[in-house]
Amino acid sequence: MKSNRILLTGVNGQVGHALLSTLSNFTVIGLSRHELDLTHPEAIRQTIRQLKPDLIINPAAYTAVDQAETDSALAIAINTVAPKVIAEEASKIGAALIHFSTDYVYEGTKLSPYTEVDAVNPQSVYGRSKYDGEMAITAVGLPHLILRTSWVYGAYGHNFLKTILRLAAQRDQLHIVADQHGAPTSSMSIAIALAQLIAEWDGKRSGIYHLTNAGSTTWYAFAREIVRQYIAMQLQPALKVTEIKAITTADYPTPASRPANSCLDNRQLAQDFGISLPSWQEGLQAEMKLLSLQ
Ligand SMILES: NC(=O)c1ccc[n+]([C@@H]2O[C@H](COP(=O)([O-])OP(=O)(O)OC[C@H]3O[C@@H](n4cnc5c(N)ncnc54)[C@H](OP(=O)(O)O)[C@@H]3O)[C@@H](O)[C@H]2O)c1
Repeated sequence: MKSNRILLTGVNGQVGHALLSTLSNFTVIGLSRHELDLTHPEAIRQTIRQLKPDLIINPAAYTAVDQAETDSALAIAINTVAPKVIAEEASKIGAALIHFSTDYVYEGTKLSPYTEVDAVNPQSVYGRSKYDGEMAITAVGLPHLILRTSWVYGAYGHNFLKTILRLAAQRDQLHIVADQHGAPTSSMSIAIALAQLIAEWDGKRSGIYHLTNAGSTTWYAFAREIVRQYIAMQLQPALKVTEIKAITTADYPTPASRPANSCLDNRQLAQDFGISLPSWQEGLQAEMKLLSLQ
């Protein structure tokens, strides 16, 4: 689509940071939380009116899934109210919106990958706040794409990859949940796909799409693959870990419930835009390479 001016939120987040470096062929005005605090609707309105973007990309979100259970007002302000205000203001100036959402909108009991038409049933405050944000954008009726992704990680930011590598350098043994299924999705894979999507999208087709790396795994198998690739690439510092043990969700209780299955079927994105992301293992390899350069 014709995007002369893109307003990008959350540039210090995993996806925002990856997008800022990947969308270098576009004029991108990237704003951090410090520059645009999404808890202030009037600031959102003024910023959009002043900057007059023709496309807004909103990866900023309240992503502390467990904390959201006791901090629901803030999660709702950022994940539900802010997207609504962004959509309303974008609509007024004729701009389009690309927004990110989550696999945690699903209950997780389906035995095969979820499609975009499957019923949602968020099991957490975070999942509910994100779903309500989707609905608010849809209700405004502007040209929009809502991209549900999952298990986001990367060389930049705080995430599962970084946590596993930190713990694997400190401990002999790790215990990782093996009964939650999903697709780890690299922030760079998302950003590369988004650059393609912006080029492909004419703004006429609006809706919700799944966008994850291909394939699926468990947190346990993901952790094993992280350690395997790290050792194979001979990265430093050397890891101390010698054993990764599978545990169940019940062994590792968290304040927020996670879906047992949050694998997303990405075929609609491929069908409508010809875009497919690489396998989660390839996504991991690319992030490992970035990590090795840091
Ligand atoms: N992370 C995942 O595993 C995951 C899974 C599925 C879907 N998603 C969705 O994917 C999108 C991108 O996630 P991500 O992993 O890039 O998240 P992230 O790394 O946690 O980044 C979120 C960004 O939002 C910013 N933010 C938080 N509160 C804000 C506020 N009041 N005003 C302005 N900015 C604010 C944060 O700012 P600071 O840097 O200042 O904190 C941060 O830069 C989100 O919509 C998320 O819901 C993520």
